[in-house]
Amino acid sequence: MANKLRKIVSNELFEWMREIRRTIHQQPELGFREEKTSALISGFLEQLDIKHKTGIAKTGVVGKIIVDKKAPTVALRADMDALPVIESTGLTFSSKTPGVMHACGHDGHVAIMLGAAAILKKNPPDGNAVFIFQPSEESEGGARPMIEEGALKGVDMIFGGHIEPDFNIGEIGIKTGLHTSYTDAFEIRITGKGGHAARPHETIDAVVIASRLVMDLQTIVSRETDPFSPVVITVGYINAGTVHNVIAEKATLKGTIRTIDELTRSQMIDRIRKTASSLSLLHGADIQVVLFPGYPPVINEEKATELARDAAVDLLGEKNVVSIPLPGLGGEDFAYYLHKVPGCFVRLGGARKGAEIVESHSPRFDFDEEVLRVGAAYFSELVRYALKKLRRDGQVRN
Ligand code: NI
Repeated sequence: MANKLRKIVSNELFEWMREIRRTIHQQPELGFREEKTSALISGFLEQLDIKHKTGIAKTGVVGKIIVDKKAPTVALRADMDALPVIESTGLTFSSKTPGVMHACGHDGHVAIMLGAAAILKKNPPDGNAVFIFQPSEESEGGARPMIEEGALKGVDMIFGGHIEPDFNIGEIGIKTGLHTSYTDAFEIRITGKGGHAARPHETIDAVVIASRLVMDLQTIVSRETDPFSPVVITVGYINAGTVHNVIAEKATLKGTIRTIDELTRSQMIDRIRKTASSLSLLHGADIQVVLFPGYPPVINEEKATELARDAAVDLLGEKNVVSIPLPGLGGEDFAYYLHKVPGCFVRLGGARKGAEIVESHSPRFDFDEEVLRVGAAYFSELVRYALKKLRRDGQVRN
């Protein structure tokens, strides 16, 4: 396996990718503000002599290797945004922007995709390759505007991946069909009646209502949903009150709803609204529920998933290709590309041997940079596989 990888990704190319990753890691940028990252990507594509367009969906970049206009086209996608996290990795190339960190490995995704582009440029595939560098996967979602602005034009199949601390370096995790969940967010605003802490009967206590609401939301999950259709309701934010001896008039809760099917999703939204309105009636408080619809689930297409698996087995060996048995309740706006063209989203093992596993979005998140080599080799090979298959299936444009 190691030999095959080294043959596709030379040490020189690996070092080039590592440098890119570290540079981007030092200058993380939040969603739709990835100006420096976008300029860097454009510069590297220029260096590789790959034609590209910038400024798509604000900061997105799309590069293309066109071998033959009538040949099939396979796209790869990398996200490029960072998170509002204060880095504490202690890395020599830590973030230089206070409060912003590449805590989800998107710096690595960009480096991997540029590496794959370099490999495919040097040794062109039997068809066309498109490289989609997308802004804002973590917040409002850059995939949809990228598609609206033509990123998928002429694309027959798409692949993407995410560096994962739960898989070892050299492993690839693949799941056919449903892979991630609906990720809706909500905000609940409670307005009661503030007053003196010693005279609660003269008030409507927003803190007590908020506390009860948090518990009631958990009861919806445990008592009102089918245990075989997973649901998570997490309240990640709660804010109320000013001082110990004043009963709070207002409270705000923010949270997320994770579901894997449309019916359960709409039932959950409905139950949250009903719980809020019944508590409103019970306590005489005004309770507003605002819903922020999130990403739909990633559903990996069967044939594309088979290709993704075959390419992984050939490159890394059967034992390093992990079949993910169940969908996860994370979100990923790669889902939108899969509404338009068949494709597959995979997991790239990033765990450093023997090191403690630190999950993504943590201020201490890091990965073994060997994943850059594995990722670039894998995606370049996968593009070749998919193009061959598409040609065989006769997807040639006239
Ligand atoms: Ni991510």
